Amino acid sequence: MSYFRDYLKRTDDRMLMKWAHYFEVYEREFGARRAGPVSFMEIGVFKGGSIPMWSGYFGEGARLTFVDIDPSCAALADPGTTVEIGNQADPAFLARLAEKHGPFDIILDDGSHINQHQITSFTHLWPHLADHGLYVVEDCHTSYWPGFGGGHREPGSFIEFAKSKVDAMHSWYTDDDEGFPFDPIARELEGVRFYDSIVVMEKRKRTEPPLSITARNGQMTGTRRPLTLRNRKSMFAGKDGT
Ligand SMILES: C[S@@+](CC[C@H](N)C(=O)[O-])C[C@H]1O[C@@H](n2cnc3c(N)ncnc32)[C@H](O)[C@@H]1O
Repeated sequence: MSYFRDYLKRTDDRMLMKWAHYFEVYEREFGARRAGPVSFMEIGVFKGGSIPMWSGYFGEGARLTFVDIDPSCAALADPGTTVEIGNQADPAFLARLAEKHGPFDIILDDGSHINQHQITSFTHLWPHLADHGLYVVEDCHTSYWPGFGGGHREPGSFIEFAKSKVDAMHSWYTDDDEGFPFDPIARELEGVRFYDSIVVMEKRKRTEPPLSITARNGQMTGTRRPLTLRNRKSMFAGKDGT
């Protein structure tokens, strides 16, 4: 907590806009990433207050890219950071961003908060997240705000989209090939973590399906029998894109 609490007292006239409880989530999710050089991208600049905050947090050697639809944000870049102007809902712009600045270790979506935009950005940027990377979407309470395309259990909301990724992550484990086919994202989605208004999806590429382990007297045995028993055809019959 200390870096962010301290930073809030050192802010300059570029306003920062975050919910107070986010800083603890940042510490928990990003803390371990401070040790090495990080490629970080935040969608949403507004008055630019988060630019020096992230520069100071990730330190020298970090590559920091910021994105906003408002051209006036271009003037807010600090030395060593880049501000790109474009629409997070435009796949062609996202492809250009990824080509120029990717792959990213952390992508933080604090942009329009329109649910369809959040989903479009995730869909097009997830492939450009590095292995072990974090995709973070902020202000997900708009998943419950009709004005942003949300609503309780609204199928088009980002929270419902993220819940569907929880299913996808487990698509190794069933035999319902018709209703619930294997989703290739299971091969690279390590976890989906829900906080109040923040969703974090972590990437970790697997070369093999999950393995069950038994250990006794210092001997370890691995098996995928629980998967093969279920005869998950869409996974084992080569219908999973491999
Ligand atoms: C919540 S503010 C960002 C706050 C900033 N990250 C901070 O921590 O102070 C949201 C920003 O997203 C930008 N924005 C809105 N729609 C966008 C879109 N479709 N693509 C990219 N940026 C967008 C707005 O111009 C606004 O500056």
